[in-house]
Amino acid sequence: MRTPLVAANWKMNGSREFAERFFTDLDLEGVISGVVVCPPFPYLSLAAQAAQDKGGFVVGGQNLSQEPAGAFTGEVSAGMLLDWNTHYVIVGHSERRSLYLESNELVAGKFVAAQAAGLIPILCVGETLEEREQGRTLEVVAEQMAAVRNRIDSSAWKDAVVAYEPVWAIGTGKTATPEEAQSVHEFIRAQLGDIGAEVQILYGGSVKSANASALFAQVDIDGALVGGASLDAKEFAAICRAAV
Ligand code: 13P
Repeated sequence: MRTPLVAANWKMNGSREFAERFFTDLDLEGVISGVVVCPPFPYLSLAAQAAQDKGGFVVGGQNLSQEPAGAFTGEVSAGMLLDWNTHYVIVGHSERRSLYLESNELVAGKFVAAQAAGLIPILCVGETLEEREQGRTLEVVAEQMAAVRNRIDSSAWKDAVVAYEPVWAIGTGKTATPEEAQSVHEFIRAQLGDIGAEVQILYGGSVKSANASALFAQVDIDGALVGGASLDAKEFAAICRAAV
């Protein structure tokens, strides 16, 4: 069956001092889920060293280029992430889609580049509040998934993770109810076809230790992609412990 997975997305938060303290304080005793920490690029090497020293978690990037190399100032390739001992990479986070205008096609290109290099992409999908109110949640998620599906063999989903992050629940303190999230997760699993039963589907959006267990109790919620609450090592570990 699917192992639960909890991933921390620090976004553009932290400092060297914060990162050092976080990894010193991170106590994953009793955690049975997989754990991924995605810090900003400059702290990846520090995080990878902590992962090697402490064990119990691996490291992920928050973004990558769809290109392997070349004149792309400011970009980071999949190969460079591998050099940092990174196992996972987030692609298509809603902040990348809305603030940096990443299209479904660009996100699909990043997904393919990540997998080609041997990284596991964490593909983020999810609707805005306006799209939800228009009753377009499933249509939007289906389009986001289809852009990737058009570029890969269906078997490639087994080396990927999908994260459902309703945009209206990110950083707002408003979580989707476990039932609301479950119904979209079930839809996403159906979109994955025959291999769907093997793919980890995470929920993201204001996950905290106080609401994690109720979310993880849903059959199609295999873990979480955690933003704000992942900046507190104790709180993040408590969320990891809730994933069973
Ligand atoms: P919050 O947990 O801060 O709502 O962020 C969720 C998220 O965007 C994780 O990628």
